[in-house]
Amino acid sequence: MGSRDAAFDTIVATTDYPVCIVTTVAGQDMAGCLVGFAGQMSIEPRRFLVALSKSNYTYSVAQRAEHLAVHLPDKDNLALAELFGRETGSAVDKFAHCEWRVGPHGLPILTAAAAWFTGAILQRHDFGDHEGTLLELTAAGTPDPSVTGLRYHDVADLSPGHSA
Ligand SMILES: Cc1cc2nc3c(=O)[nH]c(=O)nc-3n(C[C@H](O)[C@H](O)[C@H](O)COP(=O)(O)O)c2cc1C
Repeated sequence: MGSRDAAFDTIVATTDYPVCIVTTVAGQDMAGCLVGFAGQMSIEPRRFLVALSKSNYTYSVAQRAEHLAVHLPDKDNLALAELFGRETGSAVDKFAHCEWRVGPHGLPILTAAAAWFTGAILQRHDFGDHEGTLLELTAAGTPDPSVTGLRYHDVADLSPGHSA
C-alpha cells in the first residue's frame, strides 16, 4: 500500500463512520453482514446506498434479492455486530445464533437491533471490489430515541469473515 492510500485510509477512519447490519433473503436463502459503506442519498424520495463486497456471501444472495433490511446496532449490540462482521454465511448459519423474525418482504429482522428499515433495490452499480445497491425506503421500525449507534472504532479490530 502506498503512502497516498495509507493517508486516505487514516482520513476515512478518522471520520469514525456509523456501521449497520444489512440482511436479505432470496428464496430459502438468508444472509447478512456488517456494513460500513452506507448512507442516505436522497430526502424525497428517501433513498439509501449500501455497498456490498463482491466476495461476501451476503452479496451472492443479494444478487437474487429484491429488498434489503438495514439495522442500526446499538452500543449494546457488539456481539451481534461481531456475529455479522466476523463470521461468513458461506460457513455459518448466522441466523441460528441470533434472535430474528420475518419482517416486510420476508426479510429477516434482527430483534436485538436498536432500529431498522427496509428498502426495495432500485439500482446496482459496480464500484470496484464493492457493488452499490440503491434502496428506496419501504418500511421502518420506530427507533428507541436513546439509541447510540455503533461506529467504526467500536468494531475496527474485527477480522472480516471475507476479505474484500
Ligand atoms: C468495520 C467493518 C466494516 C465493514 N464494512 C463492510 C461493507 O461496507 N460492505 C461489506 O460488504 N462488508 C463489510 N464488512 C465485512 C463483512 O461484514 C464481513 O466480511 C462478513 O463476515 C461477511 O459476511 P458474509 O460472507 O456472510 O456476507 C465490514 C467489516 C467490518 C469489520
